[in-house]
Amino acid sequence: MPTQTQDRELGIGLVGSGFMGRCHANAFAAAPVLFELPARPVKAVLADATEESAAAGAQALGFARATSDWRSLIADDAVDIVAITAPNVLHEPIAMAAIAAGKTVYCEKPLSTTAASARRMTDAAEAAGVVTSVGFNFLRNPMIRLARDLITSGEIGEVTGFRGRHAENYMSSPDAPHSFRTDPQGGGALADIGSHIISLARHLLGPIADVSADCRTIYPDRPVAAGASERRPVEVDDMTHALLRFESGVSGSLEANWAATGRTMDLSFEITGSKGAIAFSQEHMNDLLVYSGSGAAAGYRRIEAGPSHPPYDRFCPAPGHHLGFNDLKVIEVAELIEAQVSNGRCNPDFREALAVQETVEAMQESSKARGWVGL
Ligand SMILES: NC(=O)c1ccc[n+]([C@@H]2O[C@H](COP(=O)([O-])OP(=O)(O)OC[C@H]3O[C@@H](n4cnc5c(N)ncnc54)[C@H](O)[C@@H]3O)[C@@H](O)[C@H]2O)c1
Repeated sequence: MPTQTQDRELGIGLVGSGFMGRCHANAFAAAPVLFELPARPVKAVLADATEESAAAGAQALGFARATSDWRSLIADDAVDIVAITAPNVLHEPIAMAAIAAGKTVYCEKPLSTTAASARRMTDAAEAAGVVTSVGFNFLRNPMIRLARDLITSGEIGEVTGFRGRHAENYMSSPDAPHSFRTDPQGGGALADIGSHIISLARHLLGPIADVSADCRTIYPDRPVAAGASERRPVEVDDMTHALLRFESGVSGSLEANWAATGRTMDLSFEITGSKGAIAFSQEHMNDLLVYSGSGAAAGYRRIEAGPSHPPYDRFCPAPGHHLGFNDLKVIEVAELIEAQVSNGRCNPDFREALAVQETVEAMQESSKARGWVGL
């Protein structure tokens, strides 16, 4: 059981109360229950787009105060950590104001709408010396930690290839409407979910040096809003395929696809090595497939998540009971609180998220130029 030595409090200011806002609020509540943290997060202020949605969000998610002005949330002395779960186009202005106020910034992915914007945010955060964290929560999976350990310890030998994919079906219908995700400023499948598989590829195999990509729009227009008959052209990709060359020399491929009919959460990869291989899909996030052996005994083994895969043990003492998506956010928040108190670094921070954004942009440039682009 965690020791409750959390006399110090950290005020949380949450911007946005949609899908990710709820997920963050849940994580800030659960992290001090499940982890021994040096401080206790306190849900201080919630900002949303209108007075009504802010008040409703604050009440539902347990925040003390509500505001429709995120600037007043940042100025509030009760707020130490600004958590940004608003649409992508708002990430830079909110983060820059929070950095100027000397506050810790916990921003959802993608870090911003362009690499230039992400670079401004990263430079400002580093100049101010504030702690930053970015919501690439899938890296927090204990089975991803195991995969990384197996690769770095040489368990699969020399890495020879990478095949990565983030495929979902939420835009597979031509009538799936526009949203901030299709905003020409920083939207598209590659930025929205391709950023997750790029971050995972970098986490497991290091920096990517060169890319050659094909970004495609499947449906030329979509309804302006859910159920609307008026349609507006789509200016972003529904699907991107890319070839990659890592700095290590390993080559591979990657797909980002939000119109993958039948797929719900195939954030997946297969990494081959000279002695073995590893395969994973977030659709079965408690399993890691590891290929090893030789001759008749060679084959893929399914390793099921359990207490020997930290920090699974924080959630449950028994194997096979399984972690879920929201638990990854709890792990992310626990690391953020540790970093905030010790003035340490989170991984991924803004610097790492900038590298992901630069990779997204290099792929977009490569698709336009119909050739390889170096990073
Ligand atoms: N890490 C992940 O796995 C993951 C998953 C989904 C979304 N995301 C990211 O989280 C962010 C939000 O996505 P979502 O799915 O939660 O979207 P959402 O539409 O469900 O929620 C967005 C929230 O922001 C609020 N908002 C809009 N304008 C605002 C303003 N001016 N001031 C304050 N609040 C405002 C909206 O009212 C809403 O509550 C995006 O950057 C997205 O890429 C990350």
